[in-house]
Amino acid sequence: MRSTMKRLVIVGLVLTGWHGVALAEDVSLSEKLTASHCGACHTFKRDEPHGMGPNLHGLLDRPAGSAPGYDYSDSFLQRLDGQPWSRELLDAWLADTQAIAPGTAMTYFQDDPGKRELIIQYFESSH
Ligand code: HEC
Repeated sequence: MRSTMKRLVIVGLVLTGWHGVALAEDVSLSEKLTASHCGACHTFKRDEPHGMGPNLHGLLDRPAGSAPGYDYSDSFLQRLDGQPWSRELLDAWLADTQAIAPGTAMTYFQDDPGKRELIIQYFESSH
């Protein structure tokens, strides 16, 4: 009986350990993908200056068009001003920015749902 318990504890530890490793790999993959797809125009850390696009610190749940001091296009504000950036809105935005806000200054299409998911995970993990 005692040795069965011990074995169960060990199995539990091994499983938790693997889970930790898998998660760490996903995080670095999503961070790399976001840096390479978005980093040319956006910054991600608090108080970093805007690039061609607005700083994206704390993006999820923040209202669209609310980065202080960033001059959003009229096309963007007409369609999105004040809408909270939910997971769903961000997914639709990344799939086709021009379908969400025709004429927006950001043109980006990502057909691969797996890549969109990794990019969204980056914003979830970097609050
Ligand atoms: C070529 C430059 C460029 C690239 C690359 C780019 N963006 Fe943008 N992004 C912009 C610009 C410019 C705006 C402002 C749009 C406007 O005012 O019409 C913007 C706006 C945004 C907004 C609205 C933010 C807010 O404050 O409401 C989000 C979200 C966003 N981008 C996410 C991303 C993500 C995620 C990526 C990478 C997959 C990305 N962008 C890649 C230029 C870019």
